[in-house]
Formats: sequence, C-alpha cells, structure tokens
Amino acid sequence: MTEQSPALDNLLTENRTFPPTEEFAAQANAKADWYEKADADREAFWAEQAERLHWDTKWSQVLDWSDAPVAKWFVGGKLNVAYNCVDRHVEAGHGDQVAIHWIGEPGDTRDITYAQLKDEVSKAANALISLGVGSGDRVAIQLPMIPEAIVAMLACARLGALHSVVFGGFSPAALRSRVDDAEAKVVITSDGQYRRGKAAPMKTNVDEALDGAPSVEKVIVVRRTGDDVPMREGRDLWWHELVDSQSAEHTPEAFDSEHPLFILYTSGTTGKPKGILHTSGGYLTQTAYTHHIVFDHKPGEDIYWCTADIGWVTGHSYIVYGPLANRATQVVYEGTPNTPHEGRHWEIIQNNKVSIYYTAPTLIRTFMKWGENIPAEYDLSSLRVLGSVGEPINPEAWMWYRDNIGAGKTPVVDTWWQTETGSIMISPLPGVTAAKPGSAQRPLPGISAKVVDDSGTEVGKGGGGYLVLDKPWPSMLRGIWGDEERYRDTYWSRFADQGYYFAGDGAKYDNDGDIWLLGRVDDVMNVSGHRISTTEVESALVSHPTVAEAAVVGATDPTTGQGIVAFVILRGSAAEGGEEAVQELRNHVAKEIGPIAKPRQIMVVPELPKTRSGKIMRRLLRDVAENRQIGDVTTLADSSVMELISSGLKSGK
Ligand code: WTA
Repeated sequence: MTEQSPALDNLLTENRTFPPTEEFAAQANAKADWYEKADADREAFWAEQAERLHWDTKWSQVLDWSDAPVAKWFVGGKLNVAYNCVDRHVEAGHGDQVAIHWIGEPGDTRDITYAQLKDEVSKAANALISLGVGSGDRVAIQLPMIPEAIVAMLACARLGALHSVVFGGFSPAALRSRVDDAEAKVVITSDGQYRRGKAAPMKTNVDEALDGAPSVEKVIVVRRTGDDVPMREGRDLWWHELVDSQSAEHTPEAFDSEHPLFILYTSGTTGKPKGILHTSGGYLTQTAYTHHIVFDHKPGEDIYWCTADIGWVTGHSYIVYGPLANRATQVVYEGTPNTPHEGRHWEIIQNNKVSIYYTAPTLIRTFMKWGENIPAEYDLSSLRVLGSVGEPINPEAWMWYRDNIGAGKTPVVDTWWQTETGSIMISPLPGVTAAKPGSAQRPLPGISAKVVDDSGTEVGKGGGGYLVLDKPWPSMLRGIWGDEERYRDTYWSRFADQGYYFAGDGAKYDNDGDIWLLGRVDDVMNVSGHRISTTEVESALVSHPTVAEAAVVGATDPTTGQGIVAFVILRGSAAEGGEEAVQELRNHVAKEIGPIAKPRQIMVVPELPKTRSGKIMRRLLRDVAENRQIGDVTTLADSSVMELISSGLKSGK
C-alpha cells in the first residue's frame, strides 16, 4: 500500500453524517431491508431485479458460475436490449413522453419522445442491415454528444451487433487501434463537433485513422457542424441520406441473455487498451436496478441529467441503458460546462427543472474554483438527488456540492464502479443511508465487496488494503475482447486462491465498517476521472525521436485528482532544447493518444531511479512530482540517482 496518495490518508477523520429526511425516506425507491433480503438469497434477489425487463423467453437458471471467472446470468433467457429501452415504453402508452431533451452547445435543441426514438432507432437499424451489419458484427462509433450517438448504439443493440464507442477526444492512432482490435466493419462519425464555442473537425481525423484499415467497409457520417468534408466514394455515406429514407418498421429479434452487447476500451497497466466485453441480460438488469435505487428515479416525474460523455462507461450505463430501460426523461448536453459562460450547467438545470444530476468530482472542484456565486444566481430548487462518479470525492468537494448545488439538503451519492463492473457497485442509497462526505460506504444490496490485505484476508475496521469483489454480479465484464488470458491475469490472478476479482483500487474500512476508496494501486492514473495508464503515456513519449527513456507518474492535483508528470531522458543534444523541446513532447503525447493524456509537466532528467532488476521506482518519482521528501532509496541499484535528479531539477538543468 505504499503507492497510495498521502493526501487521502486523513479522510478517515471525517465524522459528519447526513441521515435522510423522513419525507425522502418515505418515498424512496430503495428499502433498508433489501441488504438482508439480498444476502439471504442473492440469486432470488437478482431474479426479482431481472423482472424489471421484458424477456421474450424466461431464463431457466439465474447464475451459472461453473466456468468461472466467466459468468452466465439468466441462462437460457432471451431479450432484445433496444426493445427494452424503447419499444416497450411506447407499447405501454408512453410514446409521447420525452426521452431526450437534447441541448447543443451553440444553443440549438431537440426534444425526442420515446415514439420518435423508436422510429429513429428502427430506421438506423434498417440502415445498418442495408450495409450488411448483423448479429455479432462490430460497429465503431466516434461521435459528439448528439442524439445520433444514442440512436446508433441502440440500433446496434437492436441487431445484436456490438458497438465500440470511442471517445471523441481520442487521436486517430487511438481510434485506429480500437477499430483494428475489434475488426469493426462500419464506423459511424460526424463531420465535426462543437467544442468551446467552435466547430472542430472529426471526419478528417477519422479519415486519417482509417487509412488502409483492413476491416472497415463503410463509414456513416452525421452532419453536425455543416463543415465541408471529403467523402470517399464507395465507402462514405451521409447519415441523413442513408438513415432518413429507411422504413421506421423493424421487428426486434430476441437474443440470448449472454449475447454480447458492446466492447468498450479502457486503459490497463500495459500500453495496449483492453476491450472490455459486456453482454445483454445481466448488464441491463443491473444498470436498470442501480439507476432505479441509487438515483431514486421516478419515471414520468424526474428530469435526469448525467453529464458524462457516451465515450465512457458512465455514458453507456447511465445515459443510454439504465435510464432508457427505466423510461427516464433526460437532458443530454453536447458541450463544455463553461460555454458560453460558467453558469451553463445551472442554467440548464433551472430551465429544464432537472431533478437528478450525476457528475464527476473533477467538475465539482472546477465549479468550486469558479465560485459559489455562479450557481447562486440560478434556481436549482428542482434538484433532489446529486451523484458523483469517477474518482474519490474529497469531503470538501462533497460538502460544497451538497451545500451549493443541493441547497444543503439533497442526498449526495458517491458511486464507486468501473468499466469492468458495468454498473454501480458501492454507493449510499438515498432515503436509506446516513451519508458520509467522501465515502462510497457500502456495497449495494446484491453486491459483495471486501477490503483485503496482501494475502487476501479481510482487514478489520479501521484497516486498509485492496478492494475485491468476492461474488459474481450480473453486469460484470465477460472478458477482454480477443484476449481471455489477459482477462484472467488482470483481474483473477492476484487473489486466485480465494477467487476474488481484483479491482485495482486501494480502500479502507472506517470504524463503522464503511468503505473509503483511496485511488488506484496499479500503474493506472485517474486524470479528471479518465483512466490513463502510465505505460501508455511512456510509450507515446519514447516514440518521439528525441526521447531515450521515459517514466510517468500520476501526481495529486487539486482539480483533476491526478495530473500526469513525466520524467524523460533526452538523447544527446536534444537535452539542450529547453522549454520548446518539452512543449513539443507534450503536444506529441496529445497527438498520439489524445489531449486528455497531455502531461501536466515534463521534467528532463539525467537518470531514472531503478531497482537492481531494472524496474522504475515510480514511488520516488511521485515524491519528486508532489514536492515531498524523497522516501526510502535503499532498494535502488544506484542510490545517488535521486540526488542527481533533485539537484538537476533545482538548478533548472
Ligand atoms: C475510480 C468509471 C473512488 C476507481 C465509472 C476505479 C472511483 C476507476 C469512484 C474506474 C468513486 C470510479 N470513488 N474512485 N466513486 N468511481 N473511481 O473504468 O479508481 O472509467 O477503479 O469507470 O475510477 O474508472 P472507469
């Protein structure tokens, strides 16, 4: 546990609690006795949750864990995920209910009802069929936050084709490696996207990425910014020409509960991103269940807004699948929070009477920096539940959120989960839990998690260690695309004897037995809630001709959680390049991976600290990056290296 951020160690002194009000508790979806009920018969509990969905064929077995660690949930059951998210609400008479209040960054809006969504998804599904896309095929999607992104995902789900959504900020190289790994047949993108008040190109990046891509047959282009883009004859098609002319009739087919639903790439501890694979029945059951109880969502009453991008798992589970399965009316916003002004989110909440708001700590801390007088100018009284996800939320930010956005009274739910878990796993329940600022507290009913030491033994109250999930859960990943061994290795080898899933996060129990998440214990950084591996950035750096060696660490950052700090050894005369050379390297990383991976700081050093076996000691570099006294150097092959680094940095060499 040496790798943990010391800034988080003092979290355990937090002793404020906020019990739910009686009024909230009386109307809450979540019930306190569900913990016990689920513990008494976990499978029966999940079977009951699966009844939230429409099954064409009912399952014959809730869980088959005989092929662990690959689970089968709701064995033998058949369903169509898109039908569950769209059609069934229309059939139940809610066709006129708005599914999506879409707000474009420049201020254009579109309201889409469930009936309209059904037509759009059916047309898009028919369009994909016309291109030869069918069950099991892969479709890559790189789109801004526009309704077509959601429509495209649901159209794939409707056909049993897997989508692989790639965040719009990823570089052409990053898109290409994902398209190749999944062997995507079709890519869906847009001409451009609005970012910070300007139209930025998208299609040209996609063209660069797909040059010579062996698997790609067709590219569908949504018109968003209206900018001129080259269309490649025989490959590229406009969405509005292809989709709009299709029939709105499409009969959804029921697929097996374990039919693959999507692949989503996430950073691991090596340079190559992992294609996390999710399947249908269990995933939709748990996203719907958690959206219902964690956000206390009431269909037809609440206006829900999750600020994530669909390029991340939060967008998949809490913009697309969970909310739509639960017949939510939601806001989807295209742009950045300070365009055209720093009150944009509060204005959207006020104008749309948003009642549930789900965002990330990094954004909350940014709002804090902008000042509480900005939200104070808006009427936020419609809000009744606030959520947080993506990284540990410090008690100060939690309190600020509750006081300034939640009028000092709304429940705040700090939700811990991962791309791999598919849905929320650890979170307080509004109306049930007495909340503690900064703690995710307790696994949800039906979920089991533990904090264990190195040997896999559960630690006691007040103790710290590794977070593990000791029982299978419905929305768990079913593997890493094309690499089963890496799946077993990454998640199941660390505590193989016990059969625990290793989450890669450090955690502690407080004296009440509540769980506090303490950040990653592996080489994965968390920058503004985005997972980036140190190795990924290191390999981007060494791909530059001037770099001989590079080591990257995540250093505590007051706004972004962690900031990327790189230590590089430059070749020969490049070391004299000064600030310009460093700037070029920062831009090089942005170009290789995407702007989110741009190092906050690059330090040019003469040596890197290594153990005798050649492993870079990141712990020591983190001490330098966080301006701390340098820790124990006795395991270094050459203990004078740290002096060399520190003195070089001080003298500005
Ligand atoms: C971190 C995002 C503390 C954690 C849904 C995890 C959190 C990683 C929290 C997954 C939280 C997410 N408190 N840490 N509430 N939520 N994390 O895959 O390190 O993008 O392992 O999924 O984010 O990131 P991912």
